[in-house]
Amino acid sequence: MQAEGVATVTLNAALDHSLECPGFRAGAVNRVISHWVDPGGKGINVAAFLAGWVRPVTAAGFLGRDNVQPFEALFRAKGIEDRCRRVAGETRVNLKVLDPAGNQVTDINLPGVKVGEEDWATLKQDLESLAGTRRWFVLSGSLPAGLPEDAYAELVCLLRRKGGLVALDASGPSMRLGVAEGPDLIKPNIHELEELLGRKLPKREDVLAAARGLVAQGIGRVVVSMGADGALLVERGRALFAKPPPVEVVSTVGAGDAMLSGVLASLAGGGDLEECARRGTAFAVGTLTRHGPVLPPRAEVETLMARVKVEEVG
Ligand SMILES: Nc1ncnc2c1ncn2[C@@H]1O[C@H](COP(=O)(O)OP(=O)(O)OP(=O)(O)O)[C@@H](O)[C@H]1O
Ligand SMILES: [Mg+2]
Repeated sequence: MQAEGVATVTLNAALDHSLECPGFRAGAVNRVISHWVDPGGKGINVAAFLAGWVRPVTAAGFLGRDNVQPFEALFRAKGIEDRCRRVAGETRVNLKVLDPAGNQVTDINLPGVKVGEEDWATLKQDLESLAGTRRWFVLSGSLPAGLPEDAYAELVCLLRRKGGLVALDASGPSMRLGVAEGPDLIKPNIHELEELLGRKLPKREDVLAAARGLVAQGIGRVVVSMGADGALLVERGRALFAKPPPVEVVSTVGAGDAMLSGVLASLAGGGDLEECARRGTAFAVGTLTRHGPVLPPRAEVETLMARVKVEEVG
């Protein structure tokens, strides 16, 4: 069987509970006027963005057994293949208390699951067997308690050894160690790139030189996102700058995940670096115009793609 599609790996999923609570005050009785739940974690977001653009899309990783329902509902609604391993306990819950009157958000983050050695070993077996069947693997987000800092490094090696292509989007030591294993694609934002290299990159030329250095070290493609300033995409012999079209920003949640998804949708369909720049940016600005990690309809994404300014650099 030929490997096809994309599998995302979410080691530290999250459930965001948003509570709309006008005039919220600590130490008082507060009334919630509306409440909704968004299943998340970066890999889950990427799977949700890719559904409808790439086939098949598989979600792997860990979910706490005790509050799994919103994830299962999302997978069903989006046609995402559910290969997530259930572990004891609850997936971490993040409470967001929204006070529209005071225009502020209070975050209360609960602890999540602790992953045991046995769960980690079984997950690696799951991924070994998926590796021959999915072409791209997305490793993204933070690590849960119980996993070693080199968890992503180990997965990059394991998946590439089996012929998979690996995209990595993380920060801190797990990113640094994973990058050292030469993934096929990375998508740091500018702060994560500075952290990775241990130095400031004040000018666009500095970012370009840094990304080229990583490509020279053996990383297939480096996509550096820079918020409203756009993104730089570098592969061997080519570098592009993608400037987003102006849009009305509703929420910046998941812009980076959307950009990575657009880039992967292009690569999975055989697109070149320019298509990655256009689709990645269109997904990112598309989600900015929506509440939560959702894309606008396909026709609108295509209009946005045409409006992205792509420029050769260097
Ligand atoms: N305010 C904005 N206006 C226009 N485009 C934006 C804005 N913020 C983000 N973008 C678009 O989204 C892309 C990714 O954004 P950003 O660099 O903030 O990702 P990130 O820091 O990885 O985000 P995340 O929190 O999702 O991980 C940018 O390259 C740009 O195209
Ligand atoms: Mg990011």
